[in-house]
Amino acid sequence: MSNGQPYYASDSTIIIMGASGDLTARKLVPALFALWKEGFLADNVPIVGVARREKTDESFRQEMYENIVEHGRFKPDNEEDWNKFAKRLFYREVDLNREDDYLLLKKSLEDLEFDFNIPTNRVYYMAIAPSLFLPVVEALHNTGLIPGRDSDDTIRVVIEKPFGHDLESAQHISRELSRMLLEEQIYRIDHYLGKETVQNILLFRFGNSIFEPLLNRNHVDHVQITVAESQGIEGGRGAYYDKSGALRDVLQNHALQLLCLLGMEPPSLFRAEAIRDEKLKVLQAMAPGDPYDLSKWTVAGQFTGGEVKGTRVPGYREEDRVPKDSTRETFVAMKIMIDNWRWAGVPFYVRTGKRLPERVTEIAIQFTLPPLHLFGTVECEGDICDLVGARPNTLVFRIQPKEAISLVFSTKRPGMQYQIQPVRMDFAYDEAFDRGLPEAYERLLLDVLRGDSTLFTRSDELEAAWRFVDPVLKRLDDPNFEPEFYKPGTWGPEGSNLLLARQGHRWRVPGSEHNRAAAGEGKSIK
Ligand code: BG6
Repeated sequence: MSNGQPYYASDSTIIIMGASGDLTARKLVPALFALWKEGFLADNVPIVGVARREKTDESFRQEMYENIVEHGRFKPDNEEDWNKFAKRLFYREVDLNREDDYLLLKKSLEDLEFDFNIPTNRVYYMAIAPSLFLPVVEALHNTGLIPGRDSDDTIRVVIEKPFGHDLESAQHISRELSRMLLEEQIYRIDHYLGKETVQNILLFRFGNSIFEPLLNRNHVDHVQITVAESQGIEGGRGAYYDKSGALRDVLQNHALQLLCLLGMEPPSLFRAEAIRDEKLKVLQAMAPGDPYDLSKWTVAGQFTGGEVKGTRVPGYREEDRVPKDSTRETFVAMKIMIDNWRWAGVPFYVRTGKRLPERVTEIAIQFTLPPLHLFGTVECEGDICDLVGARPNTLVFRIQPKEAISLVFSTKRPGMQYQIQPVRMDFAYDEAFDRGLPEAYERLLLDVLRGDSTLFTRSDELEAAWRFVDPVLKRLDDPNFEPEFYKPGTWGPEGSNLLLARQGHRWRVPGSEHNRAAAGEGKSIK
């Protein structure tokens, strides 16, 4: 993201530890193929899949071909096209518990570097279970695959979330990693930061001059951040999810990163360290929405079974590998304050959950109302009519799906009276640009290869986020804690509405229907 970075990646080896898993199949290799198709990946970048299963280079290539065809944004044009890419794919069988296997891998990587005529410039991607991160880095370190911190070789290690389970475990992982790696060698992925529309938050804020002066306590009434999913727990994830829950799985990382990007001060330079410093300040300034009572600023829910669009869906406790009496939260909403000069007194409401009505991620900034109601409109729903004044201006960043930025503002309704009507101005990515948006992993992998850590989480950011949610986690992990139940296909438990109602606020209904409602459409106006 920072300026001055090389345009494309060359002279590196990518080693995927855990190449038999879903992440490699669905995300990593399709993303690498897309980078190559777009000209961002030079031909001297070998990709080595490492896993325990027995495979040859040929069978690995064939498997990856099928994955790219099934999941990729780009597909091979023909056999020749595929062969050009496939010749850089290799597979090495390694039992991650056997030192000898690491030594064989070392030799094999050195041979490849010789054949490709490239220096020891390696990216190790940990596509493995979180419990293996530390032992594998340790084994790579002990066998010389990750040389000492003072070596001249360029070694980068990419780690997927979860980074720990709470503040203490995250600090432990950081401490241990720092024995073997420098902070700048560690790339902690939060794939939300790779999303084009998330990156655009900074560009929108600091690449325009008319919006930024409004983004503060003088003009913003409150902010709503929603990361909603309509699906339940995907097959095989029950055991992980039940240990994690909505707060650890999404709010602590993806949602707080969105909050940081919206809340942070402009960096003095568009460089990784400067941007991460500013995000860190936001995380450190975050405060509970109520200083005394946790239940007044956090709501946790769990979905029950029920019907969604005519089909019965299982409740959380009926999901595969979830205990029948689980109290794990599948929904969490929080009122967060940012105690700094810019945002003091402005609530940031953040919510995330599974089995909500739709998959949608958005940030909505609701501005204060004009100081005086000079105009009104008579609005009727059935026989009931109301005199309605100005509605608040709302600026919405739609991260997904249908990536867009919309602004709701008031206009004069055509006619012989001064009647006020909200309307919406939309910028939709797919209408404005004729190229598809890159997948988050494309951008993130390229950034690791070119050594740009702007879009990765630094250890102090991570710790600050854990520190903030830690007291809440303790409460939710307490076996006596009962989440509030909610029906699938709804926007979460009633407590979530109450959280806002206490302040006289109301959750928006995100998505297209919402925008019609916000713009006053669907209501008759006299
Ligand atoms: C992951 C979570 O980090 O993010 C998943 O572990 C969640 O539970 C996913 O479904 C959401 O990501 P996206 O890109 O689909 O919004």
